[in-house]
Amino acid sequence: MADNLRVLFSEQQIQERVAEMGAQIRADHEDRVLTCIGVLKGSFLFMADLVRAIPGDVRCEFLGVSSYHGGTRSTGVVQITQDLRYPIEGQDVLIIEDIIDTGLTMDYLLRMLRTRGPRSLRVATLLDKPKRREVALSADYTGFSIPDEFVVGYGLDLGELYRNLPYVAVYSPE
Ligand code: IMP
Repeated sequence: MADNLRVLFSEQQIQERVAEMGAQIRADHEDRVLTCIGVLKGSFLFMADLVRAIPGDVRCEFLGVSSYHGGTRSTGVVQITQDLRYPIEGQDVLIIEDIIDTGLTMDYLLRMLRTRGPRSLRVATLLDKPKRREVALSADYTGFSIPDEFVVGYGLDLGELYRNLPYVAVYSPE
């Protein structure tokens, strides 16, 4: 492994936590169809595993959002690069995100999706950095809370690299 990466959550730790989250999410939505909305690109691996851990009927949709522009700090500017293809009115919706940092992205998405009249709207995030929050907001389902460190892997990138790592690692610049 590269010198600047330190494993924070192994593949096995992630899979165990994802299985727990999937069971909890299904229990909370009883036998209703769940519309899962993955926030691209960071959530693609987490979403692939999480939807397989949710028993019963699930729809998979994607939202393209860009809030980072290659660096390790948020710009606070949220841009929708790909919108949903179908209405979500009356549906049970679960937003699936890789990480909630300042919360600016999720705050924006929640406000945008609420206007579309879903029956319920919940948030599942793999990682949470509560110390960095700039808007009061918490996910309904959180995989792991982490300190204020920049992490990569399992979908999370730095300049588009590292998304393919099967684990989550802290990235320290040399
Ligand atoms: P927020 O709007 O500040 O909450 O940032 C959310 C987005 O920033 C996430 O969906 C990630 O794409 C990105 N992000 C925040 N922290 C990290 C990190 O530690 N590693 C990689 N991406 C991050």
